[in-house]
Amino acid sequence: MASTRVVIRMTSTMVAETFQKKLAMAALAAFLVLFPARFMAAETTPADSLSDGDKQCLGCHGSDGLTKELPGGKTLSLHVPGDAFAKSMHGVLGCAACHAEVDLKTHPQKSKAIASSREFSVEMAKIMRRLPRRGATT
Ligand code: HEC
Ligand code: HEC
Repeated sequence: MASTRVVIRMTSTMVAETFQKKLAMAALAAFLVLFPARFMAAETTPADSLSDGDKQCLGCHGSDGLTKELPGGKTLSLHVPGDAFAKSMHGVLGCAACHAEVDLKTHPQKSKAIASSREFSVEMAKIMRRLPRRGATT
């Protein structure tokens, strides 16, 4: 740094000024060390690591308000929080591993009939059972 040469020929007021500057720098450094996540969050989020296909799904399902009307006036939330998914153990699988039936050429225009959230859970659970299990011991 160029400032080191300047430091040698300093008067006492300059010393005080330099000290203040150093203090400000130290405070800034401490701030950056204490809150790195906040600064990094602006650049990348866990969801950024997902595949392009998953990001396409999340383009719609990542928004909070997406719901589906079920018979009987019930609503099913279709919101999938991208960051939570990316951090979960299912993140590596990708959406298509479990939702292979979703074809973006026809989805969501060609709507799937879901009688109730329970029926959908049961149906999805059947698909899940066919998936290879990571870390399975038996
Ligand atoms: C253009 C926006 C959009 C995209 C992209 C999208 N979806 Fe959807 N998805 C919807 C909407 C809207 C519904 C509700 C359809 C309805 O009301 O019947 C839905 C419903 C669903 C459902 C509930 C079952 C069903 O078919 O209604 C699943 C599961 C689903 N989407 C998974 C996915 C997956 C996986 C992807 C990526 C491969 C994806 N979606 C991409 C908008 C989208
Ligand atoms: C490990 C398997 C698996 C993966 C991977 C997965 N899902 Fe699902 N998904 C399920 C199951 C099981 C359900 C049914 C949950 C229930 O209601 O019991 C479901 C339900 C849904 C629903 C209906 C709303 C709901 O919460 O019930 C949507 C929409 C959906 N998934 C979208 C996605 C998207 C988008 C991705 C990728 C970002 C994804 N899923 C990845 C298994 C998976």
